[in-house]
Amino acid sequence: MSFPEFSASSPEIQWQRFCDLLWFHDDLKIWLDVSRMQFTFDDFEALQPVLGKAFKSMASLEAGAISNTDEERQVGHYWLRQSSLAPDFKAAELITQQINLVDDFSKKIISAELKPPNNERFTDVLWIGIGGSALGPLLMTRALKNKSGLKFHFLDNIDPNGINNVLDQINSSLKKTLFIIVSKSGGTPEPRVSMEQARLKLEQNGGIWPAQSVAITMKNSRLDNQARNECWLQRFDMPDWVGGRTSITSSVGLLPTALAGCNIRNFLDGAAQMDEATRDINLRQNPAALMAASWFIAGEGKGKRDMVVLPYRDRLEVFSRYLQQLIMESLGKKIDRTGKVVNQGLSVYGNKGSTDQHAYVQQLRDGLDNFFVTFIETLEDSKGSPTINDERPGDFLSGFLQGTRSALTESNRQSLTITLQCIDERRLGALIALFERAVGIYGELIDVNSYHQPGVEAGKLAAAEILKLQVKVENLLDDGVSRSVSNIREILGESNSEPIYWILRHLTANDNNYEVQGSWGYPASIKICKSLN
Ligand code: PA5
Repeated sequence: MSFPEFSASSPEIQWQRFCDLLWFHDDLKIWLDVSRMQFTFDDFEALQPVLGKAFKSMASLEAGAISNTDEERQVGHYWLRQSSLAPDFKAAELITQQINLVDDFSKKIISAELKPPNNERFTDVLWIGIGGSALGPLLMTRALKNKSGLKFHFLDNIDPNGINNVLDQINSSLKKTLFIIVSKSGGTPEPRVSMEQARLKLEQNGGIWPAQSVAITMKNSRLDNQARNECWLQRFDMPDWVGGRTSITSSVGLLPTALAGCNIRNFLDGAAQMDEATRDINLRQNPAALMAASWFIAGEGKGKRDMVVLPYRDRLEVFSRYLQQLIMESLGKKIDRTGKVVNQGLSVYGNKGSTDQHAYVQQLRDGLDNFFVTFIETLEDSKGSPTINDERPGDFLSGFLQGTRSALTESNRQSLTITLQCIDERRLGALIALFERAVGIYGELIDVNSYHQPGVEAGKLAAAEILKLQVKVENLLDDGVSRSVSNIREILGESNSEPIYWILRHLTANDNNYEVQGSWGYPASIKICKSLN
């Protein structure tokens, strides 16, 4: 059935388009409105053949195909919320066993059946992980109301100031803190180095690391071996068919949810319900396909428009960052699946409304037209805010969302809106599953592998090379001889002086044992030696 074309100038036509295109899930109470994206009925018709292929491909992915071909892995995040879908008994059993383990372990921690040495209970969690091993947990613990659970702190970077700040925050409760180290590969430097910093601090304060620590990682990884050899409090398995950025319905997302006192079964049920809805092969009845098609048409299949994510709730502030990783790490690819260079992607940024109306929304309305907005609205307001002088904060928030949406339409700017009845475990599970599926379908439309991350791996390798070079530079300078940057480069047999200059500049900013001659503004003039006194 056809629908009218987008019309900023006719409210009647636009109302009809809104009614025709609105998607609604009666049980979840979630709405999706794509009527303000400027596609036509013909655009949708033209996409049908390629969408048909995308649905088939998604079905074989769910059935266990090696869809992450470069890493030769299956892609199993959809099985995590419906273990009966897993293609083999072993995978299904592992899923159920991990859910039960998360449930059981968290209950024991919260009820203080499991306690830290010489203390009555665990009160805090220090979560150590990066990228997909941190963003999901951060989202879950910020978005959901902490019901009866532990207080969460995060080390998701390797910034020494950041690490010290967080360790100072938990200084008085160090011995009552549960340390959870998450790394799928078990070898990422950032969480490993942060863990060493946290461990030293705990041990200096008389705590016992293995009795307070938990690992989530793949079996037999470096982290897993360490945790097993040292008899850490608990280990959780991450199967190789779960990707970092789609790990939120694995123990990576379930454990923080349960430790915050929230209901993991409801979270998984919400995701499963949305999975069901997004398997529909009818575009108009499938919200993930509607979103993927809208993104595709808006950006001409080449990501020509950025996605601005604007959830109008503080609790969903992390969602913009979460989506940024999910979408950009999945779709930002150099080559397609035929090996052709395509430099694909879909840029995502955002924060929250109405805050951002006082920042960059000015440009969205009046400036460059290179984006579309994804509004996220929540209907139920907090019961805790009284009405004062006939004014309620929730009405203002809702009014600002509608106002911005209308102002953008008047300027011919595109937007889509997702409305949730409330933010709870079930709705959050459904929202995440909606975007996971939309990314999967969009990846099929542009024919890229959405499940590997060669750029991230390349960054990890390049950093390792620099750190190796730093060790060589420091060893060389240990003899106290004064040398220029190019002297050092020649002796070490390196081809490039610039990394050596960068290493020296950072080294001398942190170590007074080096004497420097020349000006840092003229790199070639620098001479450096280590004082042997
Ligand atoms: O989504 C991804 O795959 C990445 O962002 C990883 O999660 C991130 O690099 C951390 O890797 P790991 O969990 O192996 O430490």
